[in-house]
Amino acid sequence: MAGVPGISLRGVSKTYRGRGADVVALKDMNLDCPPGSFTALIGPSGCGKSTAMRVALGLEDYDAGEVRIAGQAPATATASGITGVAFQDAALLPWRTVTRNIALPLEVLGRDPAHYSHEIANLIELVGLKGYEAALPGQLSGGMRQRVSIARSLITSPEVLFMDEPFGALDQIRRRQMNVELQRIWLETKSTALLVTHGIDEAVFLADYVVVMHANPGRVVEVIEIPFPRPRSDELYSTPEFHEMTDRIARVLHGQ
Ligand SMILES: Nc1ncnc2c1ncn2[C@@H]1O[C@H](COP(=O)(O)OP(=O)(O)OP(=O)(O)O)[C@@H](O)[C@H]1O
Ligand SMILES: [Mg+2]
Repeated sequence: MAGVPGISLRGVSKTYRGRGADVVALKDMNLDCPPGSFTALIGPSGCGKSTAMRVALGLEDYDAGEVRIAGQAPATATASGITGVAFQDAALLPWRTVTRNIALPLEVLGRDPAHYSHEIANLIELVGLKGYEAALPGQLSGGMRQRVSIARSLITSPEVLFMDEPFGALDQIRRRQMNVELQRIWLETKSTALLVTHGIDEAVFLADYVVVMHANPGRVVEVIEIPFPRPRSDELYSTPEFHEMTDRIARVLHGQ
């Protein structure tokens, strides 16, 4: 729907209340991701990035504010298959093969994976796991498991794609390759993407908007637009404009 933000958090606050001191994970957080845009969320450990993502997925309650995913309540959007998600810890089912892990979101939505064998094969090729279709997660490296997780998040062609440090376990070379691939997939799918990352390089390479958060309490301090034309290639990393942008974001991140 034109005009409806892909992801919208308005004045969202969330406090974890436990046995010890309360933790204000989010305080009056605002986030607006226009439909079809790519947003990177960056900030120090504990600033509430994963909390914001879980709230947007309907996996976590919040105390105040409003959240809309493609105009819908988060849990409704997730249940209808509008959203795809890839977490850092991959969270694969250990008794399922690579192919059957990738097919899982289809089954959850009541679709027959047999109708998607072509899409599954394409995604396996895309993430560089051809030959491992029948492998179990326990037989894969951490980086390979993450790539299965990314393929799984894409199998339903989600309108809104959430990724929480999906490339954390990859080495630098594979990570840059995946960034180029992810851009290509995203340019094809036109999904609204939200990527949580600790990598300033990765954020600038991939995003239209880099959203910088600070901690205690978790909140957005600045939104920086990244104007580089697409498709962006590996060469962007070595341009002065790229370095100016990463330096600027580093300063905001460190509060200078
Ligand atoms: N289930 C929970 N119960 C209590 N406190 C929590 C819970 N989950 C997160 N927190 C606290 O909320 C704050 C924000 O955590 P969150 O996981 O959202 O941070 P993050 O920005 O994703 O950090 P990282 O970069 O390390 O992944 C932290 O202080 C954390 O300790
Ligand atoms: Mg996190």
